Amino acid sequence: MVSFLIAYASWSGNTQEVAELIEETLKYHQIEVTTYRIGMGIIPNPADFDAMLIGSFTWDQGSTPDEVKDFVADVGYKPENVYVFGTGDTQFGGDALFCGAAVKLARFYESAYPPLKIEQSPRGTQEASVKEWTEGVIQHWLHLHE
Ligand SMILES: Cc1cc2nc3c(=O)[nH]c(=O)nc-3n(C[C@H](O)[C@H](O)[C@H](O)COP(=O)(O)O)c2cc1C
Repeated sequence: MVSFLIAYASWSGNTQEVAELIEETLKYHQIEVTTYRIGMGIIPNPADFDAMLIGSFTWDQGSTPDEVKDFVADVGYKPENVYVFGTGDTQFGGDALFCGAAVKLARFYESAYPPLKIEQSPRGTQEASVKEWTEGVIQHWLHLHE
């Protein structure tokens, strides 16, 4: 069975909600999912999974939160097959800084798929975007591994 890791950081719950929707969608498509909240307990090894989906909120003028930087450093290498999602708020600097952490993580991991950017909570109209993005990730992964 194909097995994906979701690793996410969330301060006030928005990115957690996105992670939960992604998990539901992956499971609906028969993908095994391990979800890890960054900063809690033992860090999983992305090499044990077929892909890693990493999610973060954005802080301090487009910055990546320290706990996410620590996670990236603790993993210690750049896994292949990384997909990135994030939440942010355009009120903190408009498009230039919106979901800056997701943009930076996607660049760092050389993700071959565009990062998902969600404004605050995904509940409501943005739910469809999360599902569509997740299904795109599955198609992308399958295409690479057929
Ligand atoms: C002090 C502060 C700074 C922020 N800076 C940014 C930013 O530069 N860019 C952005 O897109 N969102 C920014 N945000 C918005 C958060 O990233 C957004 O609310 C996010 O959904 C929080 O995720 P969480 O609920 O998973 O913690 C900022 C929020 C706070 C409180």
